[in-house]
Amino acid sequence: MTGRVRKGIILAGGSGTRLHPLTDVTSKQLLPVYDKPIIYYPLTTLIQAGIDDILIISTPRDLPSIERLLGDGARLGIRLHYTEQPRPEGIAQAFLIGEEFISGQPVTLILGDNLFYGDLEGFREALSAGSGAAIFGYPVANPSRYGVAEVDAQGAVLSIEEKPSEPRSNLAVAGLYVYDEQVCELARELRPSARGELEITDLNQAYLRLGRLRLYRLSRGTAWLDTGTFESLLAASMFVGTIEQRQSVRIGCPEEAALRAGFVSPETMMQALTDAPASAYTTYIRMVCEEIASGV
Ligand code: G1P
Repeated sequence: MTGRVRKGIILAGGSGTRLHPLTDVTSKQLLPVYDKPIIYYPLTTLIQAGIDDILIISTPRDLPSIERLLGDGARLGIRLHYTEQPRPEGIAQAFLIGEEFISGQPVTLILGDNLFYGDLEGFREALSAGSGAAIFGYPVANPSRYGVAEVDAQGAVLSIEEKPSEPRSNLAVAGLYVYDEQVCELARELRPSARGELEITDLNQAYLRLGRLRLYRLSRGTAWLDTGTFESLLAASMFVGTIEQRQSVRIGCPEEAALRAGFVSPETMMQALTDAPASAYTTYIRMVCEEIASGV
């Protein structure tokens, strides 16, 4: 990677069948986690890391709603683009669908239903690193539900497997990835797995075979939650609600992230809020604007 990664993709596809009937008429990524739509969280994670050019990929059914919700990003001082994934043919397909957007540059990918909270120093480091790919490992109690990485004593990746029935470690691979400019070329060489998808794990294995895959461990103080089941959706809401009520801060607020990243000025944001609904969320953004404007 030459220089910092500025482009990001949010993959908000999938049919969300595990969440039926919640997802019968709407996208999983538009369901609430406590007080905001799920997609706000990955969007915030990207903005916090300085990504200001973002492609959102979703199903033909859901893309228009997501676009209606988020717009073109101008309000946040960023650029948001939208492209359909016609069929759920795998996470790695994002690099074929997004090839024009990526235009030969390094890129990060975040899954639209993954929620990160806390210190993401490893992510920042990976975004400014040299060449290759970066994945993020997080110890979990149920690794079989995820991509699982096996690492040696020095932290080098030995293997990575998708949803193994007998996981070689408890290190799940989170839905956050950083790739260099070779990603589209390697994605084109992938073949669909037994379940008919271009697997992100196969792409990571390709980088591993080239000796160019790096794993960063998400620190203990970081929360990584996914929202793919009723239980995990509820757990994520409780987690966010607990912290927000206790600390009077908001997690996953893209407006706040954009203000703090300096993508938008408090004055411009205040202007944009003139017609915003009078909700606690709007009040919070106004408060952040005032705080930043007063240099506190
Ligand atoms: C996907 C990936 C898996 C990763 C997980 C993170 O699985 O295939 O490697 O660990 O996301 O959320 P999914 O949850 O889409 O089945």
